[in-house]
This record gives sequence, structure tokens and C-alpha cells, in this order.
Amino acid sequence: MWLENFIRRSIADVEPYKPGKSIEELKRELGLTRVVRLCSNENPWPLPDSVLSAIDEASKMLNRYPDAEAYSLRKAIARKLGVSVQEVIVGAGTEGVTFALFQALLEEDDEIVISKPTYPLYKLAASACGANCVEVPVDHDMRISVTDIMEACTEKTKLLVLCDPNNPTGLFLPRNDMLVLSSFLNRRNILLVVDEAYAEFVTDPEYLSGIELFHEIGNVVILRTFSKIFGLAGLRVGYGIVPKPITNAYAKVRRVFDVNSIAQAAAIAALKEDNYVEKIRELTLLEKEKVTRALVNMGMEVRETVTNFILIKVNDEQKMFNELLKEGIIVRPASDLGLQGYLRVSIGLPEENEQFISTLRKLMRRLGDRV
Ligand SMILES: Cc1ncc(COP(=O)(O)O)c(C=O)c1O
Repeated sequence: MWLENFIRRSIADVEPYKPGKSIEELKRELGLTRVVRLCSNENPWPLPDSVLSAIDEASKMLNRYPDAEAYSLRKAIARKLGVSVQEVIVGAGTEGVTFALFQALLEEDDEIVISKPTYPLYKLAASACGANCVEVPVDHDMRISVTDIMEACTEKTKLLVLCDPNNPTGLFLPRNDMLVLSSFLNRRNILLVVDEAYAEFVTDPEYLSGIELFHEIGNVVILRTFSKIFGLAGLRVGYGIVPKPITNAYAKVRRVFDVNSIAQAAAIAALKEDNYVEKIRELTLLEKEKVTRALVNMGMEVRETVTNFILIKVNDEQKMFNELLKEGIIVRPASDLGLQGYLRVSIGLPEENEQFISTLRKLMRRLGDRV
């Protein structure tokens, strides 16, 4: 079939991204009326009124194109983080930013270095540019070794993409490791890209957020999203804090109207909601503690994370995932993200977490050691 040879060689062996199942899809498939979705690390709590009003207001102007520059949003982000507007780029989620950013930076046969396991999108975005991805396995404790990462960098390495905290392990690189790594990369002319999708959940002072790094060394790209703690996953808004020359390159390849007008308005309103963010962090961490305690009391092994998800050790994650689906609960086999033997479970509303725990308890009784 000649059409098969049309496909770009660099993506030939790449697996497409496997998203979590949607509530509607599961209801349709199994005829269920109630479904609990704990598979995509979303914020399950209602949005603040100010964000909902901003969405209402913006919907009155839907006949007009969005502001292509997303100037007000970029300005609001810049002010919040103490950088200039020219150091802020935006896109349709971290996903949108990542694809366009890589397109602006990577040539055929360049290399990017990532950890294994990590969020699968970096590999996909690199492959789409014809670049190669070098994967560095985490150690037996799921920690990223800075020494291993440094050893994996070659003449061809252009980017080191660090997910910090990492999805799916839920761990972050300690402050000193981050400093050692960033100065090594700077000396080698390798750009550090840090995806901080879960940064707002972290309370540990050992966590060196990339914003601080950005101020310290400059040659670093920080990716953040409105999809997690801000609760705007459905609107698709993400941003990057980048050195100015990268903003100029990004402007040439980004989708001009990538961030729609409702998303821009909602994100601006969300940025003003410090109390809401604080409240979501507290509620999430409290619920995480409750869920973890209940699971440990059931005899399960739970991995600590600094994020809004946990990892539960199981013998057969695919089987457990399927059994939970039949009961209307969507979680994520961590093997979808390259980590075998665990379920990745997002922290939901209290009633959702309780339903998950009671269902799991029921399944464990029924299936015993087989899961
Ligand atoms: C590490 C990481 N980065 C980015 C994203 C997605 O962000 P966005 O919705 O902004 O594309 C996720 C979502 O699960 C994630 O886990």
C-alpha cells in the first residue's frame, strides 16, 4: 500500500496517547447512570463564581476571533510570576504549548532526554518533529538520578524535559539536584524544559519551582497549566515562561488562535483567585490523606506523592482497572504511562473517593489475590 509509505517515519512506531475514558463513553458502553472519573488528575470541585461570570461575559462576543496575542492573559501571568509579557507564551493546554515549542526548537535527528516513566506527550511531540527521544529509567525507588540524566546527554541533545513533579511517579527532584542539573545543562548548551503541571499542589520547601530557577539561571522553560488546580481542563489553556528569543521563535509556529476567547477570559479570572487555589490545595491534600489511610487500613500498598493523585500497588493493574470500570469507576493503569504494577488514582470529591474505596474493598473481597 503506497499510502503507508506516506506516513512520517519518525512517528511510525509511536503509540498514540491513551486518554482516560470519558464519563459519557463509559455510561454509553455499560449502560451505567453514575460514573466516577478518577483518571485524569482533574480538579473535581466547582469553579469560583468569578470564573463562571467571566465565561458568561466572554460568551457574548463569540462572533469575534479571540485576541491572537492573548495579551491580557499573558500580562496577568507575567505580573503574577514577576516576568515580562515577552517571556510568556500560551497555548491550548501544556499540550498545545509543548507541540509548538518543540516545533520551534527541534530539527530532524536532534535528541531530547526524558525520564522513564514520564508523561508520554514529550515523546510524541519530539517524534512529530523527527527528533529522537532518549529515555532514562528512574531508580528502584522511582527517583530520577541526576547523574544518569547527565550521562545520557550527548552532542545531539537539545532539550532535557523534566516533569516535576513527575507524572506518573508523583515525585519531584530535590532543590540541590535541580541546581546541579540546571547548571550542567547550561554549560552544555542544553535547554531545560520543566513541566510543572502539578506545582501548585506541592507544599514541600525542598521543591524548587522552575519560576525560581528561571529567575536564577534564565535558560530554562517552565510549562504550567490551568487544567489542574485551576479546574479549567475542558477549556484548554496552558502557558510557558521562556527566554525572550524563544518567544519570537514560538510566535512563528504556534496556532494563531490556539487559546479561545472564553479560555482567555476564564484563565485571567482564575489567576485572581488565590483563595480558591489555596482551598483546592488544602481540600485535595486532606482527601488524599483520608484515601491513603483507608487504603493502607485495607492492606494496600500506596505510594506517597506530592500531587493530586496516588499510586496503588496491584498485581494485575489491567484486570483491576477493568473490574473498577464495570462498577462505574474510571482510574488509570499506570502502565498507560510506562509504570507497571500500579493504578494511578486521582483525588476526587469526598463522595467519589468513598465510592472508590468501598468498591475497591468489595472487589478485593471478591477477587482476593487475583488482583
Ligand atoms: C505532567 C502533565 N503535563 C501536562 C498535562 C496536561 O496539561 P494540559 O491539559 O494543560 O495539556 C498533564 C495532564 O495530565 C500532565 O500530567
